[in-house]
Amino acid sequence: MLELKNIRFDVQEGTNEIEIIRDVSFTIPDNKFVVITGPNGGGKSTLARLIAGIEKPSGGTILLDGEDITEKSITDRARMGISYAMQQPVRFKGIQVLDLLRLAVGKRVSVADACQYLSRVGLCAKDYIKREVNASLSGGELKRIEIATVLARGTKLSVFDEPEAGIDLWSFQNLIQVFEQMRDSIKDSSILIISHQERILEIADEIIVVADGKIDRMGPRDEILPSLIGTTSAVGTCAPLGGKPMPVPSIPAEETAKKGGEA
Ligand SMILES: Nc1ncnc2c1ncn2[C@@H]1O[C@H](COP(=O)(O)OP(=O)(O)OP(=O)(O)O)[C@@H](O)[C@H]1O
Ligand SMILES: [Mg+2]
Repeated sequence: MLELKNIRFDVQEGTNEIEIIRDVSFTIPDNKFVVITGPNGGGKSTLARLIAGIEKPSGGTILLDGEDITEKSITDRARMGISYAMQQPVRFKGIQVLDLLRLAVGKRVSVADACQYLSRVGLCAKDYIKREVNASLSGGELKRIEIATVLARGTKLSVFDEPEAGIDLWSFQNLIQVFEQMRDSIKDSSILIISHQERILEIADEIIVVADGKIDRMGPRDEILPSLIGTTSAVGTCAPLGGKPMPVPSIPAEETAKKGGEA
């Protein structure tokens, strides 16, 4: 179980301190599939980075199975069972896909097993296993390889930041199936996905809506999802310099939801 208690994250810009995350508390219980959604710039990826240990909170506590991990490094958290697939994965020049999978899992992975993980994310394994994780891979290929590394690790908590981004529609159907299988076979672990996709929101146990660095609402899927569909909840107001807040044109929710699949 992962617990975030009163998490704050501020950044210094010149003499100004900007509050990116403002007093966020939530729990990801074991055996749950939780989806965080909300408008662009709301703070979702920042929360994922805080959970993975890439950023350290300015205040608050993060607990994994009751143990305070707030000051633990990325490596320690990975060892303790947190896996994280970034919104924009990084490339590793000189490392082959097979090596990356082996590094992620931390033990010997057979070529056959590595191929299975790649196939699950819709990659023709034999074409990719020896490829270098460099600039020659497309954004979608890289994204799928990163998802495969998290699947291969199969740790206590798997965090996926917008797994649908950059993935073509055909592969997206397969990816949904992968997440459905993960949800069905979840055991003493939990899955946290950041997504705008209705198909992913539909398989969530719990949905957390994050906007403007705060939790706007959270609860069981059946309670939250109806309020997200067909609304403009993802759109905030825009305050011009020195002026009154200006309403922002509405974006139908389904358009926002399509964003990732089309990217
Ligand atoms: N280190 C930083 N310095 C300055 N601003 C930051 C920093 N980290 C995040 N931000 C800002 O915090 C806000 C939240 O960013 P974040 O990437 O968490 O949003 P998001 O909800 O993941 O958005 P998206 O849906 O577009 O991925 C953004 O306005 C971003 O520019
Ligand atoms: Mg993000």
